[in-house]
Amino acid sequence: MEMFVIEGCQPLSGRVSISGAKNAALPIMASTLLSDGPNQLQGVPNLVDVVTLSQLLSSLGMKIERNKNDSLLLEVIDESCFIADYDLVRRMRASICVLGPLLAKRKKACVSLPGGCNIGDRPVNLHLKGLAALGADIRIEQGYIIAEAKQLTGAKIYLGGPFGSTVTGTCNVMSAATLAKGTTTIEAAACEPEVVDLGNYLNAMGAKITGLGTPFLEIQGVESLTGTDYKIIPDRIEAATLMMAAAITNSSIELENVNLAHMTAIVEKLQELGVNIRNSDDVVHVSSNGKLNTADCIALPYPGIPTDVQAQLMALLTITSGMNIVTDKVFPDRFMHAAELTRMGASIRREGPNAIIHGQGQLNGACVMASDLRASAALVLAGLAAKGATTIRRIYHLDRGYEKLDEKLNSLGAHIKRVKDSPENRPQEIQPDLISLSNIPDDAEKRSTIDPPKWLTKQERKTGRR
Ligand code: EPU
Repeated sequence: MEMFVIEGCQPLSGRVSISGAKNAALPIMASTLLSDGPNQLQGVPNLVDVVTLSQLLSSLGMKIERNKNDSLLLEVIDESCFIADYDLVRRMRASICVLGPLLAKRKKACVSLPGGCNIGDRPVNLHLKGLAALGADIRIEQGYIIAEAKQLTGAKIYLGGPFGSTVTGTCNVMSAATLAKGTTTIEAAACEPEVVDLGNYLNAMGAKITGLGTPFLEIQGVESLTGTDYKIIPDRIEAATLMMAAAITNSSIELENVNLAHMTAIVEKLQELGVNIRNSDDVVHVSSNGKLNTADCIALPYPGIPTDVQAQLMALLTITSGMNIVTDKVFPDRFMHAAELTRMGASIRREGPNAIIHGQGQLNGACVMASDLRASAALVLAGLAAKGATTIRRIYHLDRGYEKLDEKLNSLGAHIKRVKDSPENRPQEIQPDLISLSNIPDDAEKRSTIDPPKWLTKQERKTGRR
């Protein structure tokens, strides 16, 4: 395993390009299962999640080649398999996106349920409800969803749930409905740009979908879909993360390949905080003069502030001077990063569905643990702003969804080292017996061979006492 060691407080400057959107690339790749003929996808980020889905699609009879850096060629060569194995699905929840395409094209899908998740409950009841409404016979057996239908039939489907619509659920039902007999309407469809991108891709293959970007979709079923060439939209979450990297380091940077139209809510929030964001000649200029206002932030389904930037926003708010409130209405328990930020000196208190952040103006380096993809990004931002060194362990979460974030930030002037996570590379842990007042041996000199932390006074280091 690898970890990051970040030397904080380095100003950033220069220009980087945003990669294609992970959350558009994954359902689009899964939907190539529907096509007769080859597909050329451009703007596919080189990520662990993309590799995992490629492995899954290969196991389902697809030939996949990465020809240029961001371009994938995908073609179905064998349609006989319909099983998405637990071993691959458990590594990435987005594997569920193969369910609708497999069912519609191969008449049967057997997809493992993904299991638990660090960001909260992630049921798939709405996916199943939508596919059942299209006429699929669905049952759960031994941890697998088994869905079968000789011919899907268009239906009227409502996809709203207690936390709004469902992004990948809309992708699954919309994809399956493209080959259903007759017309399907989906109410309370997800409006995220990534869902629109999938819809545009399906239409480019010959599907007939209208209403994309609104909660009301109409899909007229067609007999078949052809392969096609398609370019995936830029990743709005990566763009927002880099904007916050500039803000948290009081820097000025430029971003290429950004679609600001997909980012209205987050851009407005950053501007409310005092960050300057300006678009000229297809380049977005982001700068901050070091004085951030406080703000309250609520993560909501699109067009609201995305839940996928909530953790990064929280990191940014820790360096304001005053009180901020963060609420996540999409994943109400997605706050595992708060405890790690607290290790870096942040003051964050949970109160019911809210996190109250008392901005302290400054963070301090510490050894912290990434718990999921966006939490990792939040810790990277915190590390960029912190005094001293921050070590972030379990960065495999970050590699799942950000393309070379460390390299991009280093090209802007950050000091991030990717090293093996081994005891010698880890910062020295504070030994509990060193500071416990009840457990001090008489001969304190013999107590430990590990150097005590530098912030203890000479006397404290020698005796373990204040
Ligand atoms: N929900 C249900 N029932 C369902 C499905 C969802 O109640 O059948 C609930 C969820 O528990 C959650 C809410 O609805 O409270 C929204 O979940 P959604 O289904 O929209 O999430 P998802 O499709 O599983 C995608 C992204 C996530 C992103 C969410 C919300 C992909 C591959 N994943 O997940 O991305 O957070 O939408 O925008 O598109 C990430 O990139 O880090 C990430 C987690």
